[in-house]
Amino acid sequence: MTLISEPPATDAPRSPGITYQQLLDTDSRPENVPDVLRWQNCQFLGDEDIPVSRYTSREFHELEKHKLWNRVWQMACRADDIPEIGDSLVYEICDQSILVVRSGTDEIKAYYNSCLHRGRQLREHDGNATELRCPFHGFCWNLDGSLKQVPCEWDFPHIDKAEWGLPELRVGTWGGFVFVNMDPNCEPLEAFIGNLPEHFQKWPLENRYKSVHVARLFPTNWKVVQEAFMEAFHVVATHPQLLAGIGDANSQYDWEGNFSRAITPNGTPSPHISFVPTEQEMFDAVSDRRLDQAPYIVLTEGMTARSVTGNGARMNLRKSIGDAADELSDAEMSESIYYTLFPNFHPWGAYNRITYRFRPYGDNHEMSIMECMFLEPYDTAKPKPANVPIHWLGIDDDWTEAPELGLLARVFNQDSFNLPKVQIGLRSTKKPGVTLANYQEIKLRHFHHLLSDWITRP
Ligand code: FES
Ligand SMILES: [Fe+2]
Repeated sequence: MTLISEPPATDAPRSPGITYQQLLDTDSRPENVPDVLRWQNCQFLGDEDIPVSRYTSREFHELEKHKLWNRVWQMACRADDIPEIGDSLVYEICDQSILVVRSGTDEIKAYYNSCLHRGRQLREHDGNATELRCPFHGFCWNLDGSLKQVPCEWDFPHIDKAEWGLPELRVGTWGGFVFVNMDPNCEPLEAFIGNLPEHFQKWPLENRYKSVHVARLFPTNWKVVQEAFMEAFHVVATHPQLLAGIGDANSQYDWEGNFSRAITPNGTPSPHISFVPTEQEMFDAVSDRRLDQAPYIVLTEGMTARSVTGNGARMNLRKSIGDAADELSDAEMSESIYYTLFPNFHPWGAYNRITYRFRPYGDNHEMSIMECMFLEPYDTAKPKPANVPIHWLGIDDDWTEAPELGLLARVFNQDSFNLPKVQIGLRSTKKPGVTLANYQEIKLRHFHHLLSDWITRP
């Protein structure tokens, strides 16, 4: 499919200031701007309030468990989290424990993590094994799920060994990620993700390794956390230090099928500020929020924040992706391009490295896990560096306790400060719904639109 640019209806209200498409016209490498950044698709999805009970009620959590999580494609891990045959990883969603196993060089399987004898979890930790043996009484399965051994087999004449393979989930892969689905009749992953792969064609996610993986617990519903990372509307109040160099309210939002996208431009002033910042001031604001620690750079006549950011980032990227770095525009090097694949997977576009995942913590509707991963490009002529293990942070921890997040930790602290208070406020409100902005919160609207569809399916 060709990416078609569909401008918004001319009467749709938008923020004062330069539009994202106008900003793209100023790129110092206009020939490098990819079609995906020219793509616009943002139809109105209604303006009804979103019921508060979606965030606070146990009943709604049960609905999500049965109608959403038990049937939807969800990202379980990176394929290279389990690089060797026999590697396995425990993926947990609500009350379900799932074992993702590398059963062959090019084969990954996912099983319900439960022994067919008396139900013990087969494995509680990630690791490598040549077989899947239950620690309780020793029933054992091969990596491909077939039954290998029954202890005291004479006592189980009623077991048909051929019928005792481990029940499997559907497995799919895209961009180096492994997705699983508990619904045997689900649509193929390829159909579910639709045109998303086309968006990432220029920025392949499979040629990356995981250099950072931080997970933190929140005392909130998972959607409260997720939705704080799906719009730039909160920047003016939550991250005011960024305003000199971020086009927060001039972000562009789009959606299609099961995914949505926001592009928040950097190196351009917020329409909220009342002064005209210099290129240096914009650059400083941008550098402050970029992840790379760089020495202070003085911009001279003719340099713009965006072109200097672009040149610096291209130079860094050259070490890993070689000449392909020269084909990247300033826009790809400067913006925050954040995708959401329903329901909870958030890969960032271009080479900003970030991927988020949000999910309930165990079976608790008022506890959640946020994960932030950095997917780093590497020189593919050399061996792929190993992925890092998860660095867990507790509810009361500060993001700066994960120094590997760099400057992002401070920004996350600002976001995180609000979230437990959102949950408290939602429990106390007498207003039955939360109200969304029509444009800047369209990604949230799109998510809830799809969620409504899933929970009302038979
Ligand atoms: S519960 Fe697994 S062998 Fe008995
Ligand atoms: Fe934020």
